[in-house]
Amino acid sequence: MLIGVPREIYPGEKRVATVPDVVSKLIKLGFDVQIERGAGELADLSDAAFIEAGASIAADASTLWHGSDIIFKVRPPAPEELSLMRSGQTLIGFIWPAQNPELMQQMAAKNITVLAIDALPRTLSRAQKMDALTSMAGVSGYRAVVEAANAFGRFFNGQITAAGKVPPAKVFIAGAGVAGLAAIGAAASLGAIVRANDTRAEVADQVVSLGGEFVKVDYDEEGSGGGGYAKVMSEGFQSAQRAMYAQQAREVDIIITTALIPGKPAPRLITADMVQSMKPGSVIVDMAAEQGGNCELTEPGRAVVKHGVTIIGYTDLVSRMARQSSTLYGTNLFRLLEELCKTKDGVINVNMQDDAIRGLTVIKDGEITWPAPALAPAAPKPAPKAASAAVEKKGAHGHGSSGPMPASTLALVFGLGALAFWAIGAYAPAAFLGHFTVFVLACFIGYMVVWNVTPALHTPLMSVTNAISSIIVIGALVQILPPEAGTNARPDALIQWLAFAAIVLTAINMFGGFAVTRRMLDMFRK
Ligand code: NAI
Repeated sequence: MLIGVPREIYPGEKRVATVPDVVSKLIKLGFDVQIERGAGELADLSDAAFIEAGASIAADASTLWHGSDIIFKVRPPAPEELSLMRSGQTLIGFIWPAQNPELMQQMAAKNITVLAIDALPRTLSRAQKMDALTSMAGVSGYRAVVEAANAFGRFFNGQITAAGKVPPAKVFIAGAGVAGLAAIGAAASLGAIVRANDTRAEVADQVVSLGGEFVKVDYDEEGSGGGGYAKVMSEGFQSAQRAMYAQQAREVDIIITTALIPGKPAPRLITADMVQSMKPGSVIVDMAAEQGGNCELTEPGRAVVKHGVTIIGYTDLVSRMARQSSTLYGTNLFRLLEELCKTKDGVINVNMQDDAIRGLTVIKDGEITWPAPALAPAAPKPAPKAASAAVEKKGAHGHGSSGPMPASTLALVFGLGALAFWAIGAYAPAAFLGHFTVFVLACFIGYMVVWNVTPALHTPLMSVTNAISSIIVIGALVQILPPEAGTNARPDALIQWLAFAAIVLTAINMFGGFAVTRRMLDMFRK
């Protein structure tokens, strides 16, 4: 099948839906690729680079749109683009079906199949490699920091110079979703002190792991609205949040806001009073500008200075890094094509039984199939009856065996055990009995230790027992020691060398075991 990649015509859009590196991968998958002349120009990708990767160049839009079986787009198609489409084609790109009902009708009337990359079920872990919303949000979060740094008249990191001490910049990030986390990482790597807030408490750890500090609102309310997204918070929460944001505004130099709630206008978090309370020269980057803005004074698409504070409301942050975002977006689309063409023969199969494909197919052969039915929650693994009963009874200690034995069975087991011990004691040599008792006790203690440890800690436990089992080293040391005074029995040289090798190998086992345990336990420490 022939994939066509047109030049984006939306004003200011610099991205292109594929890049030369991806073209060669698509060709390996069995597809042919054609690019509209100059499609990658604004992303610094020349026609020559596309040709070198194996693509052909279509002289104009109408040849490209009409001649391709599959169209890769970034923005939803404009009416003049749609008019160039013919029945049976497949269109893949950002569509935003909820915001564009009219476009959906027009596309259905064309009898085409449309895959909206923005409708991908993001919580499916298999879908992450195709998640263009995440890759674009990552780029815009990074770019927001770059824009802030550009408008800010000071260093981000603290410095001690001959001319004096410079304090680090303080950055506050409102909303720690994908874009917010990317902004935290970028600002922290520049050396700023970064703080962040989100209504979803579960992101606190992610903020810390990227080098930020999570600032909590002094009000108990869970902010998750399902699917990893936020919900509109109660009035009580909002007023507590406003008080905290007002304090942050007075303290910090830069505020980057990314707070969004799906299907709702962006929450107003930064009021005009807060802007006024900021130090002169401070910067606000409002990444929610397109959805109405998180800051009251934002002007979408522009950077303005109000009360001495630069407020950046650019709505084209991803386009400002067109080459990077085109590469990530192109890779997301390639991953999608891999899913659509498992046979690797250059023919796609829009399989409506596949959760990920079903989710993003908004029109199938002219029929609107959006919204997709909600994903069924992952089915719990069927557990055998006895095991599930045991789980119910096991209590806090992780494992538990198959439930308590009835008293009569327990008495029988103990009786038989005692009888076996009596028989061994009566007939076995005394030395054997001593070793056997130690062996039985070791089995019992080993069993109790392993069984009562959470499964997640089994690997560290194994590595520590590995280290302890190196008690073997004592045997080797006994062999290598010089003969006792008074005796002139010299140990065999071969035995000494073997003992030496045993000590070296055991030392690796011992210290390695403890080192591995330590590293693994560190992963569980907060
Ligand atoms: P988004 O762009 O819709 O929202 C951005 C952030 O703003 C969210 O973290 C949200 O909680 C926060 N927010 C909303 N209202 C707020 C308020 N009043 N005050 C402070 N913060 C507020 O979300 P995005 O970045 O597209 O994704 C959000 C989450 O979705 C991710 O953090 C992740 O948990 C989940 N997700 C899961 C994926 C997966 O499981 N594979 C993939 C992508 C996202």
